[in-house]
Amino acid sequence: MAYENLLCEVKDSIARITFNRPKVLNALNHATMVELGACLDEAARDDAVRALILTGSGDKAFVAGADINELAQHTAVDGKEFSIFGQGVLRKLETMGKPSIAAINGYALGGGCELALACTLRIAAKTAKLGQPEVKLGIMPGYGGTQRLARLCGRGVAYQMVVTAEMIGAEEALRIGLVNQVVEPGEVVAAAEAMARKIIANAPLAVKYSMEAIDRGLEMPQEEGLFLEATLFGLLCATEDMREGTSAFLEKRAAQFKNR
Ligand code: COA
Repeated sequence: MAYENLLCEVKDSIARITFNRPKVLNALNHATMVELGACLDEAARDDAVRALILTGSGDKAFVAGADINELAQHTAVDGKEFSIFGQGVLRKLETMGKPSIAAINGYALGGGCELALACTLRIAAKTAKLGQPEVKLGIMPGYGGTQRLARLCGRGVAYQMVVTAEMIGAEEALRIGLVNQVVEPGEVVAAAEAMARKIIANAPLAVKYSMEAIDRGLEMPQEEGLFLEATLFGLLCATEDMREGTSAFLEKRAAQFKNR
């Protein structure tokens, strides 16, 4: 499907989604979020897609936040709807069962940082800047930033980034665990592809259930999370890919996984 604000292509089992509004540093307007939801539905349905890479067009921005032209018009009622809708799209990304990598090629601010937080993994260019500057505008993060940032990096980091509204550089983001890897500018999509290829070499259902155990387990008491882990572990033991993966190891050959 063709989109107005996104470029989507599937190559070598990887769907690359590029936010393409460079004149506004790829800011997320409502139309872009609707398109992102549709694009994620398409990628979720498509068996040829095993992983996703999200990036921004141009070399300046990943996504510089929600579109402030639209934000400025919100009433209380549609502000709440805006937040719930965007949270839903990002939750879809987080729970679609396919790993996603944010290739952060520049500014990842506000909704852009929240978009990256909803991805499974994050790789940043050395020159990238990340931040949650919403309080400067008299609002607060509304696409899950207060929740995911605190869960990923701890409440001290979340308080600091959200209430100071200060941007941090890629190396600092790496130090606090906000990104997984920092690479040279211009190499961020290639690094994300390399990481995606490593994931794709593994059994798809094993990857999917591992992500589900981490995502859902973190919201449970450990005892319940361990039970979820054991249940999903058991489920994987019933898959063809488990037989293939263990046999391939014992027979000293490469496994051929079938997503079954
Ligand atoms: N929404 C709408 N437009 C945006 C935008 C956003 N989130 N971020 C940037 N733009 C627009 C700018 O208004 C500008 O448009 P113009 O050329 O018509 O004036 C254009 O993108 C380029 O941005 P500019 O501010 O000139 O670039 P810069 O290099 O001086 O600064 C930033 C870059 C990212 C620091 C700055 O654009 C910024 O602070 N953006 C807002 C970030 C933000 O608060 N995001 C959270 C929203 S909840």
